[in-house]
Amino acid sequence: MTATPKHFKIAVIPGDGIGNEVVPEGLRVLEALAHSSNGALSFTFEFFPWGCEYYLKTGRMMDEDGLDRLQSFDAIYFGAVGWPGVPDHVSLWGLRLAICQGFDQYACVRPVRLLPGIESPLRNGSAETIDWVVVRENSEGEYAGVGGRSFHGRGKGAEVAVQSAMFTELGCERIIRYAFQLAAKRKRKKVTSVTKSNAQQYAMTLWDDVFHRVRQDYPDIETEQWLVDAMAARFVLRPDSLEVVVGSNLFGDILSDLGSALAGSMGIAASTNTDPERRHPSMFEPVHGSAPDIAGKGIANPIAQIWSAALMLEHLGLDAEAARVMHAIETTTAARIFTPDLGGKATTREVGDAILAAL
Ligand code: NAI
Ligand code: MG
Repeated sequence: MTATPKHFKIAVIPGDGIGNEVVPEGLRVLEALAHSSNGALSFTFEFFPWGCEYYLKTGRMMDEDGLDRLQSFDAIYFGAVGWPGVPDHVSLWGLRLAICQGFDQYACVRPVRLLPGIESPLRNGSAETIDWVVVRENSEGEYAGVGGRSFHGRGKGAEVAVQSAMFTELGCERIIRYAFQLAAKRKRKKVTSVTKSNAQQYAMTLWDDVFHRVRQDYPDIETEQWLVDAMAARFVLRPDSLEVVVGSNLFGDILSDLGSALAGSMGIAASTNTDPERRHPSMFEPVHGSAPDIAGKGIANPIAQIWSAALMLEHLGLDAEAARVMHAIETTTAARIFTPDLGGKATTREVGDAILAAL
């Protein structure tokens, strides 16, 4: 009996800077998987030219009906957004955040794992000690976009800005539950909640109350509650003690860059922006941004983007294909075929070639 061929429609948004250099490498990997499947698996890719260049031409980061057009896709494969000349808050809100919030992609999952052949800047960094997941609340919190700037008219030096964090019980509950469900599938059954409840006595204590309530449903999972400042130190000092770390939008954002650095480079860290209820397509992208400092040189590390493709494959139910991609990435890092961020001399394309060969 032969299985029904699987076909997926992927919206591709390379965005700005190195997004345009690393996304093609991810697509080559996906195409190779399809090619070697004897017709069992295929993708169609539709490209969207949205980003800062598009903004400078049209005044919009994406088309007004952008979300409607993306809705029918099985997933979104995203590069990075941001370029000098367009304020970062305009580019981020106009595209990445517009998609994450519009599609309620509330679970941002970011694995932190030291790959073979890569050296961690940590003295005690090893494959055993650096292996955890940051689960970031991705729909509200500090990035809810609630606030404003006032009193501009009072003249120079008198302006006032308010930026409010917004935490809903529903928002806390669904991301915390997601973290527990993820922990249940991992080797060590443990969830660490990260807040700053001592200083932020309203929102973060709501989070804590929900955490306390949800954990009753998962008696087999060990739990911890840490303050974010102490957690930043613990990432460095006791990385071996971490498994699933769940936190708010801002804390998850910051901690995942720290995690990427501990795992060797911003150039390897992958991310999901998942709508677990699958009402909308989920989006897969590297943790890093558009890296204007190295853009155009052909030396950006494509691993973060390719690992993000593996996370997309998993989301699409293609676990074996995702595992193949991860194995190919690991074979390449083990052979120390590195771009300059990892201390090597290989180009983006050469790392992509090596991963394809290993596939
Ligand atoms: P960044 O992540 O783009 O770069 C930080 C540092 O990491 C740079 O030195 C860069 O060269 C290096 N780096 C990043 N990715 C790399 C890769 N694949 N290979 C090798 N080195 C890599 O962060 P930065 O510089 O703060 O932001 C640049 C722009 O990206 C800004 O406009 C920012 O708003 C935007 N941004 C967008 C994000 C997104 O689209 N999700 C996330 C973070 C930043
Ligand atoms: Mg970030």
